[in-house]
Amino acid sequence: MNKPLIAPSLLACDFSEIRQEVEMLNNSMADYIHFDVMDGVFVPNISFGIPVAKAVNQHAQKPLDVHLMIVEPEKYVEAFAEAGAGIITVHYEACPHLHRNLQQVKGLGAKAGVALNPHTPVSLLEDVLEDIDLVLIMSVNPGFGGQQFIEGTYRKINQLRELIHKKGTDTLIEIDGGVTDQNAKKLIDAGADVLVAGSFVFKSDNPAGTISRLKNVK
Ligand code: DX5
Ligand code: ZN
Repeated sequence: MNKPLIAPSLLACDFSEIRQEVEMLNNSMADYIHFDVMDGVFVPNISFGIPVAKAVNQHAQKPLDVHLMIVEPEKYVEAFAEAGAGIITVHYEACPHLHRNLQQVKGLGAKAGVALNPHTPVSLLEDVLEDIDLVLIMSVNPGFGGQQFIEGTYRKINQLRELIHKKGTDTLIEIDGGVTDQNAKKLIDAGADVLVAGSFVFKSDNPAGTISRLKNVK
């Protein structure tokens, strides 16, 4: 079994100690630092934005995996790229001109991701898959950490794996929401490459230990 890439979500960290949390991630087996941006419009919650991304990136030794849960992302991707984002993921549901969004992200030198809400079928990406570096499958409804994992996610991973195979791309599959050591193995077996985990990591007694547990799940 391939080892997954692990992307702990800062949404669940202690914001009053954010620098120490980033240092902990630097010294852990985390591969990316997942950074959830919410605008209170696309999702019913507000999180953090560009200045915080910049501050985190100043201390981060791992790529920033920016998940934009915002409308009109084209207005802000340049600022996030300048803030140091390694991956910028926009939501399919927020992008009537998705192909253009992807070109914009890549033109700024970042990897381009597309996120799908639980009700959005993976087949909708068929004509644009060649242009996508990473597909983020939401396994909860976006907006909050600590929600319950939606079981239908496994089927979507299988379908996306098949589509990636058919198209011959090297697109990564990232799973976001409700990931724990209980479902990690099944997600990897279904074809997931990257696991995002917020609460499971940061609410545990030993976050770095929890990250390595996810990394080495069997
Ligand atoms: C949800 C965010 C997730 C969230 C995951 O809207 O996109 O990245 O932080 O948190 P957990 O792992 O607690 O479900
Ligand atoms: Zn996220």
